[in-house]
Amino acid sequence: MIRLVGFLVFFIFVGVIGENEQCDTDNCHVKFAFASYYQDNMVLQRAPHKSVIWGYGKLDAKVTVLVMQDEYTTHVQLGTSNIPVWSVTLKPYNYIGGPHKIQAIQEHNGVNSTALISNIMFGDVWVCGGQSNMKFTVAMAFNASYELSLAPKYPNVRVMTVGDDRSNEPLHDFKNLEQPWSVPSKHSLTGDNVEWTYFSSLCWLYGRYLYDFLKVPIGLVSSNWGGTPIETWSSTDALKKCGLHLCDEPDFKLEMRNRTITKVPRSNSALWNAMIHPMLNMTIKGAIWYQGETNYDYHNAEYACSFPAMINDWRDKWLEGTRGQTDKKFPFGFVQISTTTESDRPNDGQYPVIRWRQTANYGYVPNEKMRNTFMAVAMDLADNDSPTGGIHPRDKQTVAARLLLGSMRVAYGRKDINPDGPLPQSAVHTPAGYVVLSYQDDQPLVVTKQQDFAIFDVEVCCDGECSMVVAPIASYSNRHVILDTRKCLEKGDSPKFIRYAWALTPCEYKKCSVYNTRGLPGPPFYIEVKN
Ligand SMILES: *[C@@H]1O[C@H](CO)[C@@H](O)[C@H](O)[C@H]1NC(C)=O
Ligand SMILES: *[C@@H]1O[C@H](CO)[C@@H](O)[C@H](O)[C@H]1NC(C)=O
Ligand SMILES: *[C@@H]1O[C@H](CO)[C@@H](O)[C@H](O)[C@H]1NC(C)=O
Ligand SMILES: *[C@@H]1O[C@H](CO)[C@@H](O)[C@H](O)[C@H]1NC(C)=O
Repeated sequence: MIRLVGFLVFFIFVGVIGENEQCDTDNCHVKFAFASYYQDNMVLQRAPHKSVIWGYGKLDAKVTVLVMQDEYTTHVQLGTSNIPVWSVTLKPYNYIGGPHKIQAIQEHNGVNSTALISNIMFGDVWVCGGQSNMKFTVAMAFNASYELSLAPKYPNVRVMTVGDDRSNEPLHDFKNLEQPWSVPSKHSLTGDNVEWTYFSSLCWLYGRYLYDFLKVPIGLVSSNWGGTPIETWSSTDALKKCGLHLCDEPDFKLEMRNRTITKVPRSNSALWNAMIHPMLNMTIKGAIWYQGETNYDYHNAEYACSFPAMINDWRDKWLEGTRGQTDKKFPFGFVQISTTTESDRPNDGQYPVIRWRQTANYGYVPNEKMRNTFMAVAMDLADNDSPTGGIHPRDKQTVAARLLLGSMRVAYGRKDINPDGPLPQSAVHTPAGYVVLSYQDDQPLVVTKQQDFAIFDVEVCCDGECSMVVAPIASYSNRHVILDTRKCLEKGDSPKFIRYAWALTPCEYKKCSVYNTRGLPGPPFYIEVKN
């Protein structure tokens, strides 16, 4: 009898090992498990959205998922690339405390396998994407030790970092998670004290500020790669909309400040495939984005198309991937690129053009082409002494605070909050030779007459040749800035356009010409002059 029991135990043991066999190829992905990014410590999207949970199992097996008092059942089916997967859509859960455990049980040929994730919260999940300024870690930002000391006070802001990876085909799951879902601590926000690892300072600060405002758990997924153009983050569908095509570009050799060379992908869609596509089955609240520096000399002309196309394509694909559970117009916030030094980028005028194209040439968002978006202006945050180069300003706190304002209004419906800096409604040329810029900000203008920088300039045309000349501020009021353009008149023509802050580095730190009383800078603009 004892022998028989021993034999049975041995048999069951072998059976369980067999159940959990590890395979290299996707086809034998039979280990019963959650998908890679459903882990302990994660945040699942709260109500009114429904979270989607998925994983792997044996074909046709019954799978039961237990969440609080609720039970969800489904069967394992062949998914994309012939991988057996299961997926359940939960009912909407509000943040009603926690943490929770989520258990999944597979019944297959009389054998039950279980998978468990714990310390789960329901809250808002935000994806943070882009290039090096999004990757820039908490430890590299200003006041790093202060910021890190706050980490333990935010146990419900959870972080995860997707590892650098690329693929020629859309992947269904991550191959490389650099940082699993983690509770914030000095350690989990600094990696192993290596620069450019984790956690993203902007993503963290945005999440922390959002928590202070909402008091609900916030899940932050950081997925970005330094020195990468927008085309790498766009699907073929998005690229097609702008006349761009899938192309297999060789890696770009990026020279770092310390003279080392690092290779970064340039192949269209490569990072979309490996670092975004796998997440499409997870319900999210929205995304923030800090990218554009690389496109200053790479498909710059297409950016006014490629950026809105990528945003809308991400939305379409997330809607599809979560079977309608992620908003089809989910809020998308972004940073209008900051400044840099001429040693990092030539002052050839392309930097301000990218800032403009980030708004689809409107100068502000949201607009017709970029609905439900919000923007943080950052061209007044110059930091030439940044150890990793002026292209990486260390003040990410101001950027996050400006993004938060936009998020409150656009993502959280706070119509009483105006996240915008002053933008003129009209530019009128007076007979005396001045141009009057009229602003309709909800707050008075705060104007400083600048001497050192070409802040406002005017396009004048003589004999068919047009050029920009500096137009000094003659005077200003709460609502107007009056520019002296008499110099232009001497050239025998009327001013055609006024543009503002049209330079690599338009001003010193927080010293541009026009702000409102909330300290929000007027964004760069380009406006036609009425004569
Ligand atoms: C397997 O799980 C199901 C449902 O959770 C349960 O009814 C059944 O008794 C379990 N079987 C075994 C062998 O534990
Ligand atoms: C240069 O910087 C890169 C990125 O920060 C780092 O990986 C590398 O180790 C540095 N090299 C030297 C020689 O300091
Ligand atoms: C994930 O989303 C993709 C794209 O919509 C879809 O093809 C796939 O079936 C989804 N996977 C699961 C497990 O639901
Ligand atoms: C850093 O901390 C100091 C002192 O609290 C504060 O004055 C400063 O604004 C902080 N810097 C940023 C960028 O937040």
